[in-house]
Amino acid sequence: MTLGSRQVVLRATGMICVCLLGVVFAKGQSPAQGGAQQKPLLAEQAFKNVQLLKGVPVDEFLETMGFFAASTGMNCTECHSEESGGNWAKYADDTPLKQKARMMIVMVTALNQGSFGGKRMVTCWTCHRGTRNPRVIPDLSIQYSDMLEAEPDEILAQTSGGSSVDQILNKYIQSLGGAQRVSNLTSFAAKGTYAGYETAFQKVPVDVLARAPDQRATIAHLLDGDSTSTFDGHQGWLAAPETLKPMPLIELTGGDLDGAKVEAKLSFPGQIKQTLTDWRVGFPEMIDNKEVQVLQGRLTQGGLPVKLYFDSTSGLLVRLVRYTNSLVGVNPTQIDYSDYRDVSGVQLPYRWIVTWTDGRSTIELSDVRANVPIDVTKFAKPTPIARKVASR
Ligand code: HEC
Ligand code: HEC
Repeated sequence: MTLGSRQVVLRATGMICVCLLGVVFAKGQSPAQGGAQQKPLLAEQAFKNVQLLKGVPVDEFLETMGFFAASTGMNCTECHSEESGGNWAKYADDTPLKQKARMMIVMVTALNQGSFGGKRMVTCWTCHRGTRNPRVIPDLSIQYSDMLEAEPDEILAQTSGGSSVDQILNKYIQSLGGAQRVSNLTSFAAKGTYAGYETAFQKVPVDVLARAPDQRATIAHLLDGDSTSTFDGHQGWLAAPETLKPMPLIELTGGDLDGAKVEAKLSFPGQIKQTLTDWRVGFPEMIDNKEVQVLQGRLTQGGLPVKLYFDSTSGLLVRLVRYTNSLVGVNPTQIDYSDYRDVSGVQLPYRWIVTWTDGRSTIELSDVRANVPIDVTKFAKPTPIARKVASR
């Protein structure tokens, strides 16, 4: 797996012992989007006790935490401490598991440096596979079971004889309502409900706003404040109540920013062909017992892939999987679209489920108004809104 392998530099300033402070992750060159903007806050500036995972913005640091959780099957509070639930300051405290995790970071870095030329071939997932204690003995039940075919991390080549990229994308545009209608859609303002782990899967009101070609905002009105994500065409942010994120406002960078851009642009599918580059077709797969056509593209040449799954019968987009780099590996985010309905002659999904390493949420729209004027400030850097002071 060489997905966006970022150069991880090991600088042994210590002696033979595992000197944790000796490992420095140098941020690989990632071209600053939209020119020389103010630099995003780095993890070690935002947090109190960051010893290894330095030099990356807060969002990428938290992606790394998501990667840990997904790989080891541990919750945030399991590795940190019981008291850290509801108190972000406690995340700075060291626990035996946190220390162990630091040793593991050092080990993985050394493995990749020593045996794989610095390429990120071994990650936490390689051994842990979602469990706290990796298995060491081969499992006969796995050997003798009908293995589900795992999807490759990347689609390598175009399959011969299948549909072409253009055929699949043209069918998609056709089933949405045709190129003319699709290009006539230039904005929408939707209302509906949001449910996720932070609402204990209770539905709360949500607003989804989008303006062509590439602005999008989602504002979930949680009990203790608004959880807002915006993308203004260049920059993106997350604003969330204190209960949800260690910082009230997090600037999106790297893969998080690319992901926001892809989602904003694909809100207006007329531009799908130009949005991604390096298109490839995969073998058809099954989702919910229905055959889907699989395409892969990239926002930038050499960037992380975006995978798109189109229902072979209806032609509609049913799944998008995008990837985000973290310091120790690549995290997937999956969005499943359903309940397509007509809005001004264009089929739009009224329901989607976002699944990522840090949670799963469902958005269900009830009212979508097309081609309404939306103030640009809605897509700008949000002001965190807290509705009541959290108990701690
Ligand atoms: C497998 C263990 C593990 C899991 C699971 C984990 N973390 Fe961490 N976390 C760490 C380690 C180790 C550090 C310190 C990193 C360093 O020193 O560079 C850390 C540091 C942090 C910090 C910085 C605290 C400070 O002030 O110094 C925050 C915030 C944080 N984690 C949040 C989270 C969140 C949110 C989750 C769940 C998505 C999570 N962590 C899951 C191991 C873990
Ligand atoms: C080469 C295989 C391998 C890789 C890669 C690996 N681990 Fe481990 N990890 C282990 C093994 C084996 C254990 C169990 C050690 C034991 O039982 O004492 C373990 C234990 C742990 C534990 C302690 C669990 C407990 O219950 O005591 C944590 C936390 C952990 N690993 C986190 C990580 C993180 C985070 C990463 C990625 C940075 C990672 N590991 C990568 C093999 C690996």
